[in-house]
Amino acid sequence: MAANWHNPGQGSAVVAAMDISERPLQHFRERIGAEAFTTTDHQELLARDDIDAIAVMSPDFTHEDYVCDALAAGKHVFSEKPMAITTAGCDRMLQAWVDSDKQFMIGFNMRYMNLFRVMKDIVDSGVIGEPKVVWVRHFVGYGGDWYFHDWHGESAKSTSLLLQKASHDIDMIHWLTGQYTKRVSASGSLDFYGGDKPDDLRCDVCDEQGDCVEFNKGDETGSDTVRNQCVFRSGVDVEDNSVVMMELDGGIKATYMQCHFASTYCRNYTIIGTEGQLENLDDTSQVVVKLRERSKRWKNLADQVYDVKPARGGHGGADPVICRDFLEMIRTGKRPIATPLAGRMSVATGCAATESLRDGWRPRDIPALPDALRHKVF
Ligand SMILES: NC(=O)c1ccc[n+]([C@@H]2O[C@H](COP(=O)([O-])OP(=O)(O)OC[C@H]3O[C@@H](n4cnc5c(N)ncnc54)[C@H](O)[C@@H]3O)[C@@H](O)[C@H]2O)c1
Repeated sequence: MAANWHNPGQGSAVVAAMDISERPLQHFRERIGAEAFTTTDHQELLARDDIDAIAVMSPDFTHEDYVCDALAAGKHVFSEKPMAITTAGCDRMLQAWVDSDKQFMIGFNMRYMNLFRVMKDIVDSGVIGEPKVVWVRHFVGYGGDWYFHDWHGESAKSTSLLLQKASHDIDMIHWLTGQYTKRVSASGSLDFYGGDKPDDLRCDVCDEQGDCVEFNKGDETGSDTVRNQCVFRSGVDVEDNSVVMMELDGGIKATYMQCHFASTYCRNYTIIGTEGQLENLDDTSQVVVKLRERSKRWKNLADQVYDVKPARGGHGGADPVICRDFLEMIRTGKRPIATPLAGRMSVATGCAATESLRDGWRPRDIPALPDALRHKVF
């Protein structure tokens, strides 16, 4: 992301970084330049006059404070998803945004991926009629690698993987249908990861590393977050297998399924409308539309297959585009595609679903925006 923003002499330059550890800062200076300012104190960063905007890309539980402090210091802000790990945290961030005269957006890069943009265009064209049903199956093939070797697997730091991982998909369901969730019910459990291994056990010193399919030698990207805590340690307490049922405004019903020990990686979306349906056949490249009209169904004329090419760049080409959108938002005040309200509604839905699944499927209503924010945040 920094590389996308770092274009000295062409409108934007990355000039500074804060991290709690020295090693990633050293890595940052090697990539951006020895003259870049680095610190382990975020207030030192915020005090600088040569910084117009801040991107918060640290773990989820840090977003709330860093974003509020950056807005209060008069900086524009990009926050990674999930916006925060509680709904109240998101509302505090929205209030800080309303109180500032700065711009704020969320790192929902799926909104910038070609595949999902094509799906959004098809829904918005009206060809499948009014969307009424969304089914999303998320096969998280790298679940162990990405979510159970470090803080992601601990609810105190992430609330649950329905925020950390599903916040993208919940947002997609909202974005594609144009409606927010109003009620959820969920079930889930820890069926594969977690266990009784000591909480401080790491892969590099484990006797079973030769046989363990989850062995991970650690992160070599310069981060100090060495992603090699044992995935079967006792401290893992987020669900690796969940099903969420959602009722959205407009009477739309959605189901979201997420499994972190799947042997393949894929997000499969099906949207059924009053006139037809669409579905992506794989994670990146094909969308199929089928219409209900009797004559077309009979002759199979209505099947349309859209071949979609991912753009170049990280996250299926989304990273360069979302970075450009952030700069354009700062320069022109344009509303971003990934709004703070969308960030809040995704977290609120993920938190309510987490409460439900930890309370025997009991449904939860999504909390409305506080009165002070209603009519101010869109
Ligand atoms: N939009 C996406 O597709 C996408 C993809 C990956 C990660 N993310 C988000 O990015 C964020 C970071 O995820 P990650 O997997 O890179 O995390 P990570 O554990 O690798 O940490 C990222 C960096 O934050 C630093 N850090 C840790 N605690 C900190 C603190 N208290 N203050 C400042 N820095 C701290 C670490 O040293 C590391 O350099 C998460 O919120 C995650 O959801 C988003």
